[in-house]
Amino acid sequence: MVSDLSPIDTAKFVSAKRALDFVESGMRLGLGTGSTAAWMVRILGEMVREDGLRVVGVPTSDRTAQLAREVGIPISTLDEVKWLDLTIDGADEFDHNLNLIKGGGGALLQEKIVATASDRMVVITDTSKEVEFLGAFPLPVEVVCFGWETTKALIEEALMNVDVMGRSGTLRMNGERPFVTDEGHYILDFHLHRIARPRKLSLILNQIPGVVENGLFLDVCDTVVIGHGDGHVEVRDINSGTIEHEQIDVIERDNLFVDISDG
Ligand code: A5P
Repeated sequence: MVSDLSPIDTAKFVSAKRALDFVESGMRLGLGTGSTAAWMVRILGEMVREDGLRVVGVPTSDRTAQLAREVGIPISTLDEVKWLDLTIDGADEFDHNLNLIKGGGGALLQEKIVATASDRMVVITDTSKEVEFLGAFPLPVEVVCFGWETTKALIEEALMNVDVMGRSGTLRMNGERPFVTDEGHYILDFHLHRIARPRKLSLILNQIPGVVENGLFLDVCDTVVIGHGDGHVEVRDINSGTIEHEQIDVIERDNLFVDISDG
């Protein structure tokens, strides 16, 4: 019930629900990863089960694939469908150009491949993710396990020539062990605080041997749906430049509110 949802979960829910207005029957959809994307997958599952919506989903992580199966969304692989009509995913930060930092959930590689292979990317988010400059959220960089410490040192050296306000990287852990991505890599999180030139940084990072991909999503996102704790959403579109405000109904149906708060 809406009264059971915290303001942050209400914000995530309404942004996910509004984003699903962009879905049409027959679409091939990229399904994002994270707690906001988990709301989206649950609601989409309900639309498939209850309303007969016909879509095929391409999940961006093993955990999204599992959730999609649980809620009844037909899923496929990018290799099978080849191209997508729409991807809906969360973000860790977005700026006024709708550039993003992603990868807080460790799925940035598949997320970037899927988003890039989509006609449109809609990001679902809440007000806490909006920044003037990217970089307050530590930038995730996916690296191969072999020689990761050398790769980290090379990245820190390269960061000396980039306009950022910090350089230290940390290996992401999962308890006592390094976190391992679905593709079998490690993640280094770089505390940069303020990234003045994200395009230059992204190019520099991806030239370093050992770097698989970085969490900067530049010129990929078309639309951001920003949820607020009071149930209203703001939709910003990079192409049309429009900004819309809407109030969204939060109505409990089936098991939508059960056990999905951490994606
Ligand atoms: C997953 O790797 C990330 O890119 C997520 O999309 C991002 O961390 C947002 O997650 P939340 O919706 O849980 O904040």
